[in-house]
Amino acid sequence: MDWGFRNRMAQIVRPSTGRSLMLAVDHGYFMGPTHGLEKPWDTVKALVPYADCLALTRGVLRHAIPPEADIPIILRVSGGTSILSKELLREGIITSMQDALRLNVAGVAFSILVGSPHERDTLLNLAKVVDEAEEYGIPVLAITAVGKDMVRDARYLSLACRIAGELGAHLVKTYYCDGFEQVVEGCPVPIVIAGGKKIPEFDALQMAHQALRAGAIGVDMGRNIFQSESPQAMIRAVRAVIHDRASPEDGMEIYNRFKGPSLPLLKETQVTA
Ligand code: R5P
Repeated sequence: MDWGFRNRMAQIVRPSTGRSLMLAVDHGYFMGPTHGLEKPWDTVKALVPYADCLALTRGVLRHAIPPEADIPIILRVSGGTSILSKELLREGIITSMQDALRLNVAGVAFSILVGSPHERDTLLNLAKVVDEAEEYGIPVLAITAVGKDMVRDARYLSLACRIAGELGAHLVKTYYCDGFEQVVEGCPVPIVIAGGKKIPEFDALQMAHQALRAGAIGVDMGRNIFQSESPQAMIRAVRAVIHDRASPEDGMEIYNRFKGPSLPLLKETQVTA
């Protein structure tokens, strides 16, 4: 791959640890004004210094994130349905690669819906997005979306992740499950996990830790950070688990130490956990 591609990957996955903390704030693309993201920048500005990159849509990027914000962007380029739709699992391409370039993104993200009636559309669109993104040296994160009535087990997630890798995705986001090693081993490209619905802080840290131990390279976590009682303390704890190889117990200690009112922003060079 060309220098531009490798430079973008180095913005997404921190070279010094080979790991990544992606902060996901793209939920509004199908969930509307999600709790905690009603005014995205109000929530996100205190978290940006601790994240490696920010995952969102072009609407929120253009209208809520200041252009001077010092954070690489992973732009969601799939969508087109809502939680009200009977066809939730039928996303198409919502943003062109030219617009992604205009927005100076580090990567793009696209959901595939393996096992849904529209599986073929989403997989062919992933392949198309990969072709277009590679033309410009932009990494593609494939997201293995799962329907409400589908089982998130190692067999299903291995299938979906492997297909994403085979179709050319450079990174895959999926859900953590028992036997996650099998999911990682079967996938030709690095895997990050989504956080899922809000759960207790310790449980979220433990899930991240277990995923990393099984071979994931990081998280693309949203609600378990921005819906935490103390989002800044939580992202610091998640960051320590990812980049400093802290245990969930140590992460919790960091959470407890920093929870409370938001602290003043730190410069990247000052951030330790
Ligand atoms: C869903 O597909 C969205 O891309 C979310 O960004 C993703 O699920 C990660 O967010 P959370 O940790 O809240 O599940």
